[in-house]
Amino acid sequence: MANPFLTLRNIDKQYNNEQVLRDIDFEIAEDEFVAIVGMSGGGKSTLLRIIAGLEEPSSGTIKFHEHEPVVRFMFQDDRILPWMSVLENLSFKSRDPKSKTRAVEMLNLVGLSEFADYYPSALSGGQRQRVALARALMARPQLLLLDEPLGALDALTRRKMQQLIMQICHEQHLMAVLVTHDVDEAARMADRVIVIRNGTNRFEEVGAKGRDAAAVSEVSDKLFDEIVNTAY
Ligand SMILES: Nc1ncnc2c1ncn2[C@@H]1O[C@H](COP(=O)(O)OP(=O)(O)O)[C@@H](O)[C@H]1O
Ligand SMILES: [Mg+2]
Repeated sequence: MANPFLTLRNIDKQYNNEQVLRDIDFEIAEDEFVAIVGMSGGGKSTLLRIIAGLEEPSSGTIKFHEHEPVVRFMFQDDRILPWMSVLENLSFKSRDPKSKTRAVEMLNLVGLSEFADYYPSALSGGQRQRVALARALMARPQLLLLDEPLGALDALTRRKMQQLIMQICHEQHLMAVLVTHDVDEAARMADRVIVIRNGTNRFEEVGAKGRDAAAVSEVSDKLFDEIVNTAY
């Protein structure tokens, strides 16, 4: 790969006697949007935590080709604080007065400028996920780790959020690793989709990001076959 940002080599992970990941081996290039798909319980979240440095692999290496890049997470549950306004949720961690300006900019970016003073309980699920996205962007990350972030949303909101995330990653030159069991979402959003099966990655497919519905459906069918029909 020409400009790798991240290289994973021969990653194994065991919990007690359970082998969750084995011989995971891939690279992620600068500016790439990668999706990782696989069955529930297949080790996807574990892999993301390893990439984030929150967990050590049992063996194998993980290398960022840049010194200490900024990496941020977004999860299915939004983890926003109910006793703070939307704006405070974004800016409370920093004493820098510029942080409030940045928070206003990020709310603008996710289309929530009018909701800065709202409390989270007054927001819809989709709006709360937009707050979570804006908060993840506060630290100017180079890499976003998305762990099934849209799993709890209704289908229409989900499609809108997919578009918003793709657009923001493109405009802000953000790399992303999206973990999902939804092959359609992976096909639609990613430049490249990596399948995790039996704890390892031996199959990948070019994503259908920015292409038409027929292309998305073709890619997602292939992914589905790979995961389900040949899985066990
Ligand atoms: N901290 C942990 N301790 C023990 N087992 C774990 C831990 N985290 C995950 N596992 C196990 O690892 C397997 C993969 O989990 P996970 O990475 O969450 O899968 P996925 O995100 O693909 O659904 C599961 O069997 C889960 O029970
Ligand atoms: Mg998971």
